[in-house]
Amino acid sequence: MPMHQNLQPSPDTPLGLTRRSFLTKLGVIGGSTAMFGAMDALGLVASPANAAPVDFRPPRSGDLPRGRGPSIVILGAGIAGLTAAYELGKAGYDVTVLEARDRPGGRNWTARGGDTVVETDGTTQRCGFDRGQYMNMGPARIPQHHITIDYCRELGVPLEVFTNANADAYYYQENTSSIDYGQLNGRKIRHRQAKANYFGYVSELLAKALDQNALDDGLSSSDTERLLEFLRSFGGLNQQNLYAGNDRGGYEEDAFPGAGTQAGTPLDAIERSALLQSRVGNYFAFELTWNQAMLMFQPVGGMDRIAVALADAVGRGRITYGAEVLELTNTSGGVRVAYTGNGRATRTIDADYCIATIPPQILKGIPSNLSDEVATALADANPVSTGKIGLQYRRRFWEEDERILGGITNTNMDLGTIWYPSYGYLTPKGVLVGYYNFGGNANAYGALSPAERQARAVSQGAKIHGSPYTEVESSLSVDWLKTPYSEGGWVGWGSGRGPLYERLLEPDGNVYFAGDHLSYYIAWQAGAFESARQTVMDLHDRVTAA
Ligand code: FAD
Ligand code: ALA
Repeated sequence: MPMHQNLQPSPDTPLGLTRRSFLTKLGVIGGSTAMFGAMDALGLVASPANAAPVDFRPPRSGDLPRGRGPSIVILGAGIAGLTAAYELGKAGYDVTVLEARDRPGGRNWTARGGDTVVETDGTTQRCGFDRGQYMNMGPARIPQHHITIDYCRELGVPLEVFTNANADAYYYQENTSSIDYGQLNGRKIRHRQAKANYFGYVSELLAKALDQNALDDGLSSSDTERLLEFLRSFGGLNQQNLYAGNDRGGYEEDAFPGAGTQAGTPLDAIERSALLQSRVGNYFAFELTWNQAMLMFQPVGGMDRIAVALADAVGRGRITYGAEVLELTNTSGGVRVAYTGNGRATRTIDADYCIATIPPQILKGIPSNLSDEVATALADANPVSTGKIGLQYRRRFWEEDERILGGITNTNMDLGTIWYPSYGYLTPKGVLVGYYNFGGNANAYGALSPAERQARAVSQGAKIHGSPYTEVESSLSVDWLKTPYSEGGWVGWGSGRGPLYERLLEPDGNVYFAGDHLSYYIAWQAGAFESARQTVMDLHDRVTAA
């Protein structure tokens, strides 16, 4: 169900629930629109109104004595850790990155055939995708205004359009125990049809109100005329300012326009009350939001192209993979970090400073002598549950049979959304995302075996796409709560961005913190880039002031 009027959360007392239980509940009853709406409202995605823009002053070797900086050990080779290493390394700092995984990127993760995915409970999958097919397990879309785009330019990572909204994708909803969707229960409708009808009826109603001078809001007569002009255009109204349906809503599937006398048969307008009962218009706002509006982009070949390019730029010799941090100590003159050495005995590294980019829900469990204040602040971060499945098909039936080339179908089923790939159009095979969900829905899928996750996602998706949807060649799923070294997709701050959050913007002794969790772009790579840059500036200011 999309966000319904009476479900609008208030940041403080959403439905009388705690923030965390509210998110969980939305995950159970809502689609991704509801979740994102809630996340926006709760400040979990972005709050640009509060975010002061920061001009980045990159550290320069000229600022440092003999062009050499102190030693910095960076915990984590996700986007934040790699960015810090890249910017400090360029200036002449002696950087070492310790990364528990055997690859760069952290949550920036693209799975391909041959990859192995192991969850914290031991569940193991081997990716069977064909060569050339991939699935972005975490980040998948980048808005134009994110700094992620600038790093792609600087690092030479080619981009292509990611189709976040497609007029030919569907909305699909079915009745729940508490909501009756009326005539549109269990019927898929194209985005274009839903929008044309909603815009038409809303425009017609407003035009009528203007006509009857029912709006007592000081509109001048020329304002009224201009508004009517807009409504006729926006809603596709006829000469009488009525909405009677038109080709914006699309054509009957077997009667598209063509040559000669083939004018095509436009779909009838959906009856107004049935349309309103479907509540489908509540999905529209998602694609207008600051971070989700088209055009959006993706790296050619997979999101991990960014992480690989960053790691290359840092220099592979400066990154130690398979290095799980076991202990972190502020010493009198710097920091000491104990870590595993790829199955070998525990090792330690001493450095002048540390930047910890390990997600807070993991960092809080690593033994350290960080202050009690910091420990309390780390514990305020609540991990958000989210999951995805990639389904490989031998035939792109969504393109061939249904003419959907990229984009996203929204549902109120527990699969959340279905994503059609924005690469490899018209080729024989493809991997689509068969669920992308949050909260309780993600937990429900995560509790299943990989085969059961596939079966559940396919039985639901087949209600929209029919029997071709059942012909899966191979699948791969990710449960972020059960993903080692992440244990959550991202976090929400229990007490908002208050004093606890702000404590982590300051160093604790010689230990600094960075990551998307310390930004107004939580759940976006941009947050990791921006946070790392801020931390780099703070550290460099301290070093050069000394
Ligand atoms: P991380 O990537 O978590 O990096 C932390 C690093 O620390 C990891 O590499 C981890 O392995 C390492 N680590 C953890 N524990 C230890 C230890 N003990 N020792 C050593 N190393 C350790 N962003 C977008 O821009 N667009 C999107 O469309 C988008 N969608 C997303 C969808 C999903 C499902 C998810 C999960 C995330 C999505 N994001 C998206 C968000 C994006 O992935 C993150 O904001 C970003 O990658 C965070 O980077 P980071 O460096 O802060 O954290
Ligand atoms: N930023 C993430 C997305 O767009 C959560 O899916």
